[in-house]
Amino acid sequence: MTVSDPRPADAVSAPDLRTTPDVRNAVLVVDFGSQYTQLIARRVREAGVRCEIVPFDAAAEAARAWPPGAVILSGGPASVSDHDAPDLAPTLLALGVPVLGICYGLQVLTRDLGGAVQPSLRREYGRAVLQLTPVAEGAAPDRLLAGLEGAPTVWMSHGDHVAVPAPGFVVTARSADGVVAAVADPARHLYGVQFHPEVVHTPQGSKIIENFLFGIASLPADWTPARFVDEAIERVRAEVGEARVVCGLSGGVDSAVAAALLHRAIGSALTCVFVDNGLLRAGEAEDVVSVFGEAFGPEGFVHVDAREQFLDALAGVTDPETKRKIIGRVFVEVFEAVAKGIPDARYLAQGTLYPDVIESVSVRGPSVVIKSHHNVGGLPERMNLKVVEPLRALFKDEARAAGLELGLPDSIVWRQPFPGPGLGIRIIGAVTPERLVTLRAADLIVREEMKAAGLEREIWQGFAVLLPVQSVGVMGDARTYEDTVAVRAVSSLDGMTADWYPMPHAVLGRMSTRIINEVNGVNRVVYDISSKPPATIEWE
Ligand code: XMP
Repeated sequence: MTVSDPRPADAVSAPDLRTTPDVRNAVLVVDFGSQYTQLIARRVREAGVRCEIVPFDAAAEAARAWPPGAVILSGGPASVSDHDAPDLAPTLLALGVPVLGICYGLQVLTRDLGGAVQPSLRREYGRAVLQLTPVAEGAAPDRLLAGLEGAPTVWMSHGDHVAVPAPGFVVTARSADGVVAAVADPARHLYGVQFHPEVVHTPQGSKIIENFLFGIASLPADWTPARFVDEAIERVRAEVGEARVVCGLSGGVDSAVAAALLHRAIGSALTCVFVDNGLLRAGEAEDVVSVFGEAFGPEGFVHVDAREQFLDALAGVTDPETKRKIIGRVFVEVFEAVAKGIPDARYLAQGTLYPDVIESVSVRGPSVVIKSHHNVGGLPERMNLKVVEPLRALFKDEARAAGLELGLPDSIVWRQPFPGPGLGIRIIGAVTPERLVTLRAADLIVREEMKAAGLEREIWQGFAVLLPVQSVGVMGDARTYEDTVAVRAVSSLDGMTADWYPMPHAVLGRMSTRIINEVNGVNRVVYDISSKPPATIEWE
């Protein structure tokens, strides 16, 4: 195994301090390339503690710039015996703050402090049961594994293992076959686990992380929605000063929260532009207008009805990528024309989230273009606007919490992800006003039934797709020859991979009956049972 670092050498840089105005009690998560690094950060933040991810080769610089309250070393694909294995910067140990090494993090810690790491005969992958080392009479119990119930199940994924713990460390747990699963050097506040406490397959993993944050590092749980909203507001104010900011509202969560945050930060210096492209779901345009139109008033909210322009441009177009390009181009034209009329606009707001700004060592998925996702890339340069990203320090769940904190309604905050090209890529084939009416009605039923079954938040995306397939049916005594609707629902963490959702049959039954009875021109409903990969979430 070798570590593959996809970045050119000059791409390594210090963390963006714009995201870190107050980091005294923050945790530095050092990324050695694990696919789970972001999960570590999410678990830490869920526990209410501020944390930042930095690549292993920028960690020393980061620790000098903002000394953290604790350090967590991630796992990674390398073996410590590889000649190009990623190194642990000695500066991190010299800080004297508590350190938790996870998997590769444990191994590199062990090697550097004088222990031995060896390749295992076979890779240990999957669930394992921890055997906690009994605590000797009169000795203090291990603080990392304190309070775990029963024989804890943990998730293992490693090739190497600790053969000899480093001097000063004791083994606090092993897996059933005797492999070192956890070590501790309480005097130096150094801890390590071979398993992954950050994944859901380690059911008591959050407890272990909390033990480290609170029991060992004594960090305060002060990373609350109120605090991250306050910090973001301060940062935005410092960045844009008195300048006017333009913010495009799409109807989605990210742009809505960014707009609400900017409004709180700079008030009337914000102008929101909502371009109705006619490709939104039922009720969405109305929702945006009622929430933001009322709150921001005519000065702060511009509603552009561009439905005809988009539909005209899409007339007769069936190729998915051509549709995306047209929708992107028309959006830029419309938005630019409106924004040009806003005097002294200097900034364009974008709803970029933390996962997009982390300089991760991890490989970010296939580099070939599967779908050219529509965004406003290029717009700021064209319009000579600077970019401001009020949500750049937040994960999606934090952005949602910020939205609630800022008073946005559930209907907007809990909206499922929705693609920029909207229903345009959920009508397979040409987009027409009639087909939009059909799809909107079917999609509304899918969403209503998901909601009624309490599944709206569990399902990552659930929606209807209108197929270019007609089939024979019988209604009453008459033959029909009508459209087919596919229902698609997936569970996913980030949209990169997804599993088809095992929708309860009763819910599918209600969706089907209602769509066929209530939506004109549809006589057949099918359920999509493909996962990604090899399928994708959207059909186009
Ligand atoms: P796929 O279909 O590629 O979708 O599995 C992954 C995630 O991206 C969304 N998606 C898009 N979002 N513009 C967007 O802004 C697009 O062109 C686009 N295509 C797909 C999709 O809804 C899912 O969340």
